[in-house]
Amino acid sequence: MEYRNISLKDRNSFGIEASCDRLVDFVDAEDLRQVVSSGLLSEMPWSVLSGGNNILFTGDYRGVLLHPVGREISVLSDDGTQVRVRAQAGVEWDDFVAWCVERGLWGVENLSYIPGYVGAAPVQNIGAYGAEVKDVIESVETFSVETLKTLTLAAAHCGFGYRDSVFKGTLRGRVVITAVHFVLSRTPAPRLGYGDLQAKVESMGGPSLTVIREAVVAIRRSKLPDPKELGNAGSFFKNPVVPDSVAQALKKQFPDMPSYPGTVPGTTKLAAGWLIDQCGWRGRREGCVGVHERQALVLVNYGGATGQEVLDLAARIRQDVQARFGVEIDMEVNVL
Ligand code: EPU
Repeated sequence: MEYRNISLKDRNSFGIEASCDRLVDFVDAEDLRQVVSSGLLSEMPWSVLSGGNNILFTGDYRGVLLHPVGREISVLSDDGTQVRVRAQAGVEWDDFVAWCVERGLWGVENLSYIPGYVGAAPVQNIGAYGAEVKDVIESVETFSVETLKTLTLAAAHCGFGYRDSVFKGTLRGRVVITAVHFVLSRTPAPRLGYGDLQAKVESMGGPSLTVIREAVVAIRRSKLPDPKELGNAGSFFKNPVVPDSVAQALKKQFPDMPSYPGTVPGTTKLAAGWLIDQCGWRGRREGCVGVHERQALVLVNYGGATGQEVLDLAARIRQDVQARFGVEIDMEVNVL
C-alpha cells in the first residue's frame, strides 16, 4: 500500500500531529527493490517508520516513510534445546515475546511489553531488566538501497552497544531491516538480578517463563505510561555513561546516586531518571508537555503538543542536569 499526505498522529506514540508526503508499506526485500527501482527514494528524503515508538516528529516529513508490514514468524531449526527463529520486521515485538513464551523458549521474556516492532529492536538494541536484545540476535536481514541486494549481518557485525548499533550509525539511511534471526533456548535461564524483579517474580509464584513475563509486564505497567492514554516514547534520554573517576567524584557528593558498571571497562552508567528527578523535573508540566510523574526519563504529551515543544523541554532538562551534575544526557528518541 502507498499513501500520500497522510497524518502520522496515530502512527507515533507521542501522538504528535504531523504528516508525511508518502508512506509505503513493505513486506520483504522484493517490495523494497520495487520502491527503489521506481526512483522514489532518490527524489526525496526517506526513513523507516516502524511502530513509531521511539520517534519525535518536529514538523511534517517531506519525504517517504517505509513501513514494514511483514508479520511472519518461522522456526529455522530446532535441535531440541536451541531453537533458531526468524521474525519479519513488521511483527509487533511483544507478540514475538508472547510467541516465544508460549512455546517454552527462553531469551526474550525480560523484554516483555516493550512497544515497537521486531525490525526496530536491533536498531537501538532494546533492553530492560538486565537483558538486551543483542544477546539473542543471531543475525539481521537487511536490504541495501544502494546495491539493491539483500545483506544479512551476523550479530558480531551489528556494532551493538547500549541502546546503539550500526543501524543508527554507518548503515543509517543505507539499509532497511527486513527480518531478524534469533537464537532461543529450551533450557531455563531466569535473569532476575535487576531491581525488584526477583521479589516480584517470587511473589507471583516463582521463576517460570510465564511468571517472569507477567512480572515484567506488571512492573512496566506500574512505572511507564500507556501511549494510548498519554503520548510518550518511553525513555526519552539514554542513561549517561561516564568515566569511573567522574562517577566516583559524584558519589562523594551524592551518596544515594544509583550507578551501574558500564559495558566498557573503566566506565560507569548513571541513571538519567534519577539525575532529572533530583533537578525537580519529575511530574512537572509545562503547557501541553511534561515529565512523567513516576519515571523522569519519560517525557509526555498531554495532548496537542508539537515536537518542538517536546524538544524545548528536553533542552531545558539537559541544561539543568549539566549545571547540577556536570553530566551530559543524550536523547534516545530519534528526531525527524
Ligand atoms: N529513578 C529515580 N527517579 C526517576 C526514575 C528513576 O530516582 O524518576 C531511579 C530509580 O529509583 C533507580 C534508577 O533511577 O534507582 C534507575 O531507574 P529504573 O530502574 O526505572 O530504570 P531506568 O534506568 O530509568 C532503564 C531503561 C528502561 C527500562 C528500565 C528497566 C534506558 C534509557 N531506560 O530505565 O527502558 O525499562 O531501565 O530495565 O536505558 C526505554 O528504553 O524506553 C525504557 C523504558
